Amino acid sequence: MKVLVLGATGLLGTEVMAALKERGLRAYGAARSGADLKVDVTNQMALFRLLCRVDADAVINCAANVNLGSCEADIEAAYRVNGAPAGVLAAWSRQTEGRFLQISTDHFFTGDLPLPHDEHAMVSLVNAYAVTKFAAESMARKAENSLTIRTNICGAKKGFGRWALDCLRGHKPMNLFADYFTSTMHVGDCAAAIVELLVSEETGLINLASRDISSKSDFIRALAAEMNIDPSWVTETTARDLTPIRALSCGLDVSKAETVLGRKLPSLQDTVRSLVHEDAQCVTTTNSKSATALSA
Ligand SMILES: NC(=O)c1ccc[n+]([C@@H]2O[C@H](COP(=O)([O-])OP(=O)(O)OC[C@H]3O[C@@H](n4cnc5c(N)ncnc54)[C@H](OP(=O)(O)O)[C@@H]3O)[C@@H](O)[C@H]2O)c1
Repeated sequence: MKVLVLGATGLLGTEVMAALKERGLRAYGAARSGADLKVDVTNQMALFRLLCRVDADAVINCAANVNLGSCEADIEAAYRVNGAPAGVLAAWSRQTEGRFLQISTDHFFTGDLPLPHDEHAMVSLVNAYAVTKFAAESMARKAENSLTIRTNICGAKKGFGRWALDCLRGHKPMNLFADYFTSTMHVGDCAAAIVELLVSEETGLINLASRDISSKSDFIRALAAEMNIDPSWVTETTARDLTPIRALSCGLDVSKAETVLGRKLPSLQDTVRSLVHEDAQCVTTTNSKSATALSA
């Protein structure tokens, strides 16, 4: 199977590329820079031309603008990245019967409780990011051979996972959200499961995340325990006053994905263990590169 990955240089796209290759599938990565194929997905003609040129059996769309502030500042620009390309990909899928996986978000649920939202839960679109991601879902689901995957990820290379590891290790000030709930999953586990879902017959909408819901604060405390760090210096706060406004009850019910995959999805404990393990591997790689440079 020949698979085109859009957003192949990002936190998730990098791991999806690796997972596809590990499974022996032919993976072609695209982004605006740094990938084998160059594309700006906001240019619909360029995206269409890329689809024709690669002639893939499947497309996994990981390209996005995940910066909530930047989406809020210019919702039309955010829509051109997060929303509109899904329309082109859905049209491609309908014409060619190609498989189309749209990566979506959990950022759709409000409230102040760690509730598990299943695939039928009512969504609330509280900011531009949510609006543009939901627009993409609506377009993706028009293609019969598409699967929209709602997720929440962390990894040691960038974003929340990197920040948490650095702050804990450096004993830096941390003011943690006690009322912002997610089912964050390690990006490596997420990518492996995405490839399993790609080769499955599953279509429609599916939640893919940790089977545990935790507040950002609980997540950091679990991570600290895994790192053998006593996080006695951290403080807690509310995420209710953030701008742009956040959806705060983002827990996902993953029972459908567990049935389709035929296994349990990772727990909170599994997730922080994977994050620490990935971080140790990054450090080892960097150290061994420095050692090589020094000895050369
Ligand atoms: N990170 C999270 O915590 C999180 C949580 C829930 C859901 N998600 C979803 O997971 C998916 C992947 O997110 P991520 O964290 O991997 O994002 P990321 O690290 O910011 O990566 C985004 C990717 O998209 C590419 N991209 C951005 N604008 C583009 C454009 N105009 N044309 C072509 N490529 C473009 C980027 O490369 P270039 O900039 O070089 O083009 C990069 O490869 C997204 O659908 C996101 O909504 C993420």
